[in-house]
Parts: sequence; C-alpha cells; structure tokens
Amino acid sequence: MRKIYPLNQNWLFNHQFDPAFNALECSEKDFERVILPHTNHLFPISGFDDRDFQFVSSYRRHIQIPETLRDYEIFVDFEGAMAVARIFLNGRFVCEHSGGYTPFAARLTPHVNWGGDNVLAVELDSSERPDTPPFGGQIDYLTFGGLYREVNLRVVNPLFLENVFIKPRQVLKQDPHLEVLGFLQNSQQVKGEATLEFEVTDGERSVLKHKSRFSLDGNSQQTVQMTIEGAGQLTPWDLDHPHLYQASVTLHSEGVEVDRYPVRFGFRECLFTPEGFTLNGKRIQLRGLNRHQTYPWVGGAMPARVQRMDADILRKEFKVNIVRTSHYPQSPHFLDRCDELGLLVFEEIPGWQHIGDRSWQDISCENIREMIRRDWNHPSIILWGTRINESRDNDEFYARTNSAAKELDDTRQTGGVRYLFDSHLIEDVFTFNDFDPVKLQTPVHPLHLVTEFCGHMYSTKHVDNTERLTEHVRRHAHIQSLAAATRGIAGAIGWCAFDYNTHKDFGSGDHVCHHGVADMFRIPKFAAMVYKAQCPPGEEVVLEPGFHWCLGDKAAAGGVGEAWINSNCDSLKLYLGEDYVGEISPSKDLFPGLPHPPFKVGKELEGIWGERWKPLRIEGCLQGQPVISRTLSERGVDAVLKIQADSFSLNGDGSDATRVWFMVTDEFGNHRNFALGSIQFEIEGPGEIIGDNPFALTGGCGAVWVRSKIGSGPIHLKATHGWLGTHVVTIDVNNEFHESL
Ligand code: GAL
Repeated sequence: MRKIYPLNQNWLFNHQFDPAFNALECSEKDFERVILPHTNHLFPISGFDDRDFQFVSSYRRHIQIPETLRDYEIFVDFEGAMAVARIFLNGRFVCEHSGGYTPFAARLTPHVNWGGDNVLAVELDSSERPDTPPFGGQIDYLTFGGLYREVNLRVVNPLFLENVFIKPRQVLKQDPHLEVLGFLQNSQQVKGEATLEFEVTDGERSVLKHKSRFSLDGNSQQTVQMTIEGAGQLTPWDLDHPHLYQASVTLHSEGVEVDRYPVRFGFRECLFTPEGFTLNGKRIQLRGLNRHQTYPWVGGAMPARVQRMDADILRKEFKVNIVRTSHYPQSPHFLDRCDELGLLVFEEIPGWQHIGDRSWQDISCENIREMIRRDWNHPSIILWGTRINESRDNDEFYARTNSAAKELDDTRQTGGVRYLFDSHLIEDVFTFNDFDPVKLQTPVHPLHLVTEFCGHMYSTKHVDNTERLTEHVRRHAHIQSLAAATRGIAGAIGWCAFDYNTHKDFGSGDHVCHHGVADMFRIPKFAAMVYKAQCPPGEEVVLEPGFHWCLGDKAAAGGVGEAWINSNCDSLKLYLGEDYVGEISPSKDLFPGLPHPPFKVGKELEGIWGERWKPLRIEGCLQGQPVISRTLSERGVDAVLKIQADSFSLNGDGSDATRVWFMVTDEFGNHRNFALGSIQFEIEGPGEIIGDNPFALTGGCGAVWVRSKIGSGPIHLKATHGWLGTHVVTIDVNNEFHESL
C-alpha cells in the first residue's frame, strides 16, 4: 500500500559543487545539516546583490530503505527545486528536472540498496540559466535558490495510481455528475482483471460510491475513466461556502487492493461569459491582487503555515475574491488554503516577457503539463495562464501551450497575460495588463479580464507622505470601479498584493518593488483597505482612515488635505474631540462601480489649528445607527509597540514557522508610519528567528518569522524597543517530529 515519508530533515548542504558530491561516498565534513524548505543563501531585506543565489550547490540525504520494501516502487517527490536539478542515488544518475516551480518524481527503484543506507544527491543549479524558463531575458522578480519546497519519499506497488482527476460535469444541468480519470502506472506491465472503487466522503459520511471493472492492458500507463452519477446531492463549492469533499480511489488487481489514492475536490462550475465571470451560474465581479510567493530573507523557502497565511491575508484581511499566481505555479499549500477559503485563482506558467528557443519552449510546455497535473483538482483554480507574462506573440508556441492545457483539462478556460492590446487571442479569455491610470481599454474580445494595473506606475512605502498614499488609494479604487462599470470586463487584478525583491533594473533601486498594497511583511498600506471595504457589512464592518492624523505636507491648509476613508458604512460622522464637524457619504460619483466607494474627506478637516487640533473621531453608521468608531491621536507620539504572532502553536518538525509582526501605534492603535528605533529580540526554547536582529524600524512596522526546532515546549520571544518597552510573545511547539527514514 501507498506510504508517504517526509524527507525534509537531515539534509546535508554545501554551497559548493563538485561532481564527487554526487557519488555514494564523499567527505561530508564541509556540508551543513539543514531542514527543508531551504534557501541556498540568506539575504538582507533589500539592497543585496541578486547574483548571490545564483550558483550550483549540493544536497545529500542518507535514506535507510528497509529490505521489506524490495517489492515496491520507490519515488522521491520534489515539490520545488530551484532551478535545474540533477538527481543521483548511490552515485547513479536518476533524472534531471528543469524549472523551479513545478514538481517532479525521481524513480529510485532500480538503484536502491535494499535494507541499507542510500545516498540521494541533488546537484542544484540555481543560476539564471538562459535555457530554462523563466530565464533568458531580464525578469522583474527573483527566483532565489535551493530545495525551497518539501520533499517526500513515496512507496507504492508496481501497479499504482499516479494521479486522479475529478471533473465536475453538467453542474447546473439535469444530470450533474463526476467524470473521474484514474492514471495507472503498471511498471511490470501485468495484464488481468482490476477494479477502481471511487468513494466520496463528507466528514465521516460516505456520500457517493462507484465501482468500475476493467482489464489491465499490460501497458506501462493506462487511463481509466469513470462516470459517477448522483452528484446532484453534492453541496456546490462557492466563495461563501467553499465546501470541499474528500474522495478516494482504490485500485484492486485480481481481487487484491494495491493502491488507494486520496483527493480533495469541490463541485462547481466556473465560466467566463460575455456577461462576466460566473461561478455556478452566478455572476461574480472579480476583484483581486497578484501575488509573488517570496518573503524577506529566505525567498520562497517558507513552510505550509506561512504559505497558507498569505491566502488568509488576501481573503480574510483584504477580502479579495481572486489572486493571480504571478508569474508561476505557487506552493500547493497556498492553493489548498485558497480552496478552503473560497479564494479564486488564476495560475500561470513561469516566465516574464522573454521567449527562448525551441528547447526552452519544450521545457515551458512540460512546465505547463506539470502545473496542470499537479493542480487540476483545486476548485479554486478557474483559469490556466498558458502564455509567458507580457511576451510578444508567438502563435506557434502559444498554440502548443494552449493545446497542452486543453488536452489535459477540458473543464477550464485558458488565458495568457499580455500587454499588447492587438496581440492574437489563441486562448479563451483576453487577459490584459492595463497600466493606464486614467482609463481602461475597451474590450474587443468577448471575454476580457484585467490582470494587472497600477504597480510600477505608482509605487508606495509606509514612509510616503499622505498625498502619495492617498493617490495610491484612489488609483486602486478608480481602476476597480472602472473594471466593474465597463461592460465586457470580468474584473481586475491589481499589481500587486505584497512588495517583493527584484533585480537591479526594477523597483526603487533597493532591489525591492514597492508595488504592493502591503509591504514584504504583508503589513497593509492604505490601498489594501480599498479592497477590504468592498465586503458586505454583514461580513465585517470596515472603517479604515487612509491617512495619518497629522498636519503633514498640507500644513498650510491645516488637517490632512484631501484624503480617503475606506469603509462599508452608509455614512461617517467626524468629530474633533467632542466637537461634531460633519458627516460624509461614499464618493459614488467618483467610483460608481464599487459597492463601497471610498469616502472623501477634505474641507471638513481644513484649517484645523491650535485649539481645534484635537483627536479625530470617525463614527461609522449603518441605516443611521453608529456601528463602529475609530479615534486618531493628534499628539504625534509613538505611544505603543504592538507585537503579535499569527499562530501561537507550531509543529516541532524544525520547519514550521509563524510570522511575528510589530507596529508602533498611537495610544488608539493607529499605525505611526514615521516611527523609528530598533527592536532587539531574545529567543528561548525550541525556536529560531528568521529575520534581522536587532530589527531597525522603517515605516514604523515590520516582522520576523519564528521557526520551530525539532522539539517541543514553549518559545518565548522577547522584543525590546529602545523606548517602547519589552514584550514577550509565547509560542508553543508541539508534536516533536523526527523523520523515520
Ligand atoms: C508588469 C509585470 C509585472 C511587474 C509589473 C510592475 O508589467 O507583468 O511582473 O513587473 O509590471 O508594475
């Protein structure tokens, strides 16, 4: 029977590479012991040399494979090895894989030393090799290097299920059903009678069952198709109720169970139509953000909890309904969480503007197959991106990528992100990066989605003045409003969610693109609140002033000048201290497409000097009743250091991690964006800090991540700010875990 053994601990890593490191025996004294996910280099937050991750390194892992497994197939599954990996077992070459964003399986079986020690060696080239996507030109992001996602050892029978695809069919019609494809590998090419049993469970309850008999045809690969009726009783997956089912496919050969393959899926229909995007027949205005998967210091090398947290931030904190995985397939953990939260996903192949030669294109086509075969059961994914982001037309290549997607998955439409409006449409949906801050292109194709806007046209930092942060808010609100109000546009996905590290040719000269509605620590700027405020007040009442309450650059007029408040209230009442100064309404005239347009403040807060310079209180009302209130201090004092962990409990496996973010606030909890000082950390217990220590504040906020060690017990993270005191955050580490092989 199928067994999965995590292989993340006990790796040996060397920054250097020597062919001798691929051998069964070599001196390991210069190797350091590491745990995956692993980055081949630790970076500062910004201002580093982007060549520092570009080298060939070596990883080795000793694996004890018991004699009892001799009759089985042994694979090692790599979730992500950046960028080109050559795998060896016991000195013998196993396989090579190109592309750091898609998984691959290394079949070890023929080379295993049964009952003894085995050495798995990975020669990992993390340089920007021009023969491999996304490289060859210049890209506006960094790939970083290392075995930065998880690795598992998989033990299966020689006859096993390599993959399963559950396709929802006729979801809204008379005969809703599932079409299930079981992809069999039959390495000994046996013939005979077999069955596939399919079962869907909802929690403990079995809700659908089906059994198919078939003959093993003796080929090494065979696909078995099943039609499962009765899907009408399944609860559909949608954004408010992202109902997920657990299914299993069990393979019997000659009456003996040989494999059982678990899959999670959702029952739903997604379709771009000329009227917009529909989920289960209901039109949904797509409002979202692009996400890069990288973090400060470690690039992409963050574990499941941290990857999942990004989906939580996007869906629960920023309330967007779609994310584009720009510009590559992202962590399966992130996608799992999108499924659980009802966050739609547009996933695309690796690349940026550059198309390489024929063999580069072959790798790209392979990457698309790997992406789709990995992710086809995620109900959150509604569109495959089959074009290199913003590349020029290449009809032959894109006919290949597009048909690769269609052949594998006939349930989803395709898109291909472009910036040339007159480019040929080979895919279904015209997915277009529209950076004009004033207007959007009028669609010429029936299915049109804006996949980027704003970004480099208007980068922002927490330390920017109110005018700039205000304009950032306006631009996001304006384009989202236009997209919603323009017939034929399914929605808009802003550039971007989080600031990210990049090459010297992009960004602000510090190797950072400050294009996010949140910074690299995922701490929101005001523009993120445009998105948040679009949720119905029944879900959460939002009241987010888009300015700091200070005289600032508009001192001549007093107050903040013209600024925005993002809220889903009907009206806002403004008070200076106890003095009522006015009531404002959402700016429906400026942002007619938004359900909850920002509120403009201006003249109400003009000329506020001397005696009138008091705390600003904003009261949000729904149907005339006050439901929420915020007070902003006028004192200009950095009063409080707020510090908070996203999770207070970690697994003791040496890789689990949580963000611990901090922010200097006024006495009412409002971000003090010019606050300085540094935070000194001390850590006790089974954990370590990923991040700067001491941490020098800029923008009055920041974060570190705390990673567990293999062990258990409490971690005490003590944070001391020069004049805002000491705080202790306690995080429990449970489930001490040692890998068994
Ligand atoms: C786009 C590109 C993105 C990013 C963005 C910056 O042209 O697709 O990857 O570079 O510009 O605004």
